[in-house]
Amino acid sequence: MITFDAVTKRYPDGFVAVDNLSLEAETGRITVLVGPSGCGKTTTLRMINRMIDASEGQILLDGADVKKIDPPTLRRGIGYVIQQAGLFPHRKIVDNVATVPYLLGWDKKKARDRAMELLERVGLDPKLAQRYPFQLSGGQQQRVGVARALAADPPVLLMDEPFSAVDPIVRTSLQDELLRLQSELNKTIVFVTHDIDEAIKLGDRVAVLRVGGKLAQFAAPKTLLSEPADDFVREFLGKDRGIRRLSFVSTEHLRLRTDLVVSSSSPGTAAASDGLLMVVSEDGRPVGWQGRDEPFGTYVHGKDSLRAALDAALLSPSGQAVAVDAEGKVVGIATREALDEALAEAADG
Ligand SMILES: Nc1ncnc2c1ncn2[C@@H]1O[C@H](COP(=O)(O)OP(=O)(O)OP(=O)(O)O)[C@@H](O)[C@H]1O
Ligand SMILES: [Mg+2]
Repeated sequence: MITFDAVTKRYPDGFVAVDNLSLEAETGRITVLVGPSGCGKTTTLRMINRMIDASEGQILLDGADVKKIDPPTLRRGIGYVIQQAGLFPHRKIVDNVATVPYLLGWDKKKARDRAMELLERVGLDPKLAQRYPFQLSGGQQQRVGVARALAADPPVLLMDEPFSAVDPIVRTSLQDELLRLQSELNKTIVFVTHDIDEAIKLGDRVAVLRVGGKLAQFAAPKTLLSEPADDFVREFLGKDRGIRRLSFVSTEHLRLRTDLVVSSSSPGTAAASDGLLMVVSEDGRPVGWQGRDEPFGTYVHGKDSLRAALDAALLSPSGQAVAVDAEGKVVGIATREALDEALAEAADG
């Protein structure tokens, strides 16, 4: 666990970049620092590995004051990933990844084996190992940056806007990759971003900072969206806060109609008066609306969020969403009425 206890950073010119910050980044979790440019995110991050020293207050790493740990020892247990990866341009990818193991005095073969293993872990083709950074795409370079930070298997990972220099599609896949990696590795991650969507997607807890380095709110994404602490947080979350909040509402209580599901071998007898009939194949998969050559949208019932169910409904001209199970078999139809009901409930709750 990383604990900030009343930490202030005053730069030599007197500027206060971080003001009396207290928060805890839990072990094995992703804590996101988010806020507008200049609000002190990078300063906060760098005080953890002492690239910057705090002026006042304490930062504890599993209870130990980081000021009492010498920086090289401290940094051995802390991986650091920055924007545009920050790779060494004249070193091959494999040697970039093996940087820390070399520093730790591992023999060359062991360090390179470890690097190759990590390249695979972060989803890179091992063939790229012999290339130089300029021969890789931005997204690939970022993956190398993550692999390099993980090389010595540090328990803590600091990530400073690691995905902000890539296009939105690559960015989404890097985020998914990070979540997948984290589910295997359970690192204590402090992740900095100025993108609230990224914060909400990745963070177990999110700290919203305002300019002047003051903590505006520290909460789980769901709480942030449902109970923003003040106008600044509300504004920062944006106008689509309501819709985004639905990402955290379960579909398990969504009322389903099974009478609107018919089998392809015995087509529906009567057209339902209050909804389209969904025809399913013999193995239970959705085929289409009976008698209507129009698209349909599915969501996984009980697993996907209400937002996903609404998305599915919007894909269908009838405004109905097709509920399927984990195997893709239809379990029922969420009608417009059922979705309205669930929305009303979400608005109350
Ligand atoms: N060495 C320094 N001396 C004086 N002021 C500094 C110094 N380094 C940073 N600052 C100021 O401290 C504030 C916080 O900077 P910091 O880099 O932590 O912000 P940030 O939230 O990471 O911003 P960005 O999103 O733009 O990266 C800024 O106003 C910056 O100008
Ligand atoms: Mg920064």
